[in-house]
Amino acid sequence: MTDVKKKLNYYGDKEGIRKATPLEIAKYKATRIGNRSVADLGCGIGVQLLEFAKVSRDVLGVELDRKYLEFCRKNLENSGLNNVKLVKGDALDSNIIKMTRNYEVINSDPSREKTGYVWNLNDLSPNPKEILRKYDQEDFSFDIPVRFSKKLLPGEPELEYVSLKGEPKRLIIYYGSLKNYELSAISLPSMERIIKGDEELTIPKTTIPETFIYDIDQIISIADLLSDFQKYVGKDFEILEESPQRLLITSNDNLRSSFVLGKYKVLKEYGSLQQLRKDLEKYDYGRIYIRFEIDPKYYYNLKKDLEFNALGIDDIFIFRFGSKYYTSMKEEN
Ligand SMILES: C[S@@+](CC[C@H](N)C(=O)[O-])C[C@H]1O[C@@H](n2cnc3c(N)ncnc32)[C@H](O)[C@@H]1O
Repeated sequence: MTDVKKKLNYYGDKEGIRKATPLEIAKYKATRIGNRSVADLGCGIGVQLLEFAKVSRDVLGVELDRKYLEFCRKNLENSGLNNVKLVKGDALDSNIIKMTRNYEVINSDPSREKTGYVWNLNDLSPNPKEILRKYDQEDFSFDIPVRFSKKLLPGEPELEYVSLKGEPKRLIIYYGSLKNYELSAISLPSMERIIKGDEELTIPKTTIPETFIYDIDQIISIADLLSDFQKYVGKDFEILEESPQRLLITSNDNLRSSFVLGKYKVLKEYGSLQQLRKDLEKYDYGRIYIRFEIDPKYYYNLKKDLEFNALGIDDIFIFRFGSKYYTSMKEEN
């Protein structure tokens, strides 16, 4: 057993640390569940489990893999917490189910059985659908892949889309008395939340940027919350690009939110890249960033070509919308 004590002071091997719930998410989830007693099914090396133990009176960790359970035990010893029991076993086994009977909340951040896209809850272990079927409790929370189709979820859970430092990380589903909202997206660590409302506005699409181009956290698209985001920021904007890769919007206004990942002030429009290249001499630029889709094999050549005269200090970001190219500079939000 490779015993690596990694950053954040957890014992675990590479795989256990990779699979662990990110600490900021674990902390957030623990505060949301509060002081209720929790059984964590598939507790791994225990990052989430220990956060539960800091706020809950009584916590049980169930883990199938002996190696992870041992790491979890060491992490527990290291923490000095004394309200946690650990048990080795399959979360779907009837003896384990009996042991969890007195715990109010059943939580699980299951492993993906396969790599790539998860289409089905059967691809997760322990399987949330089976947990819901076999356990008697009413309060459950599960961490599932962020792009999971909500139509495939049993019952009517609360859907909470979680983004960490601008990266969509997971969909947490809550059942029973844990439900607070119907659907929302939360940005961590700021805890800013966009909540789904009843009224749906149609956001216009455009290929012509206004004063600013905004790069928006993809979680807003994934959770289908763009219209609610507009109500939340209270400013008009239009969609420049909404794709699985990115969400770009444009506005003449300042949009303030931790869901805004980048704000770019548009400098000038060009009919072609040649025209733009010629004009670059007028800029005091040091670096060029290509912000439009380009075959990766041409990316560095184009960047090098555009940086032919990069003797200055400014960073210039180049976008393309429709057939037009735009120079822009990043601004603090
Ligand atoms: C994503 S990891 C959980 C990480 C954990 N929350 C943490 O913070 O370290 C999922 C864990 O579930 C365990 N597991 C998978 N199937 C299980 C089952 N049927 N019963 C118990 N544990 C299981 C895996 O061994 C793995 O450690």
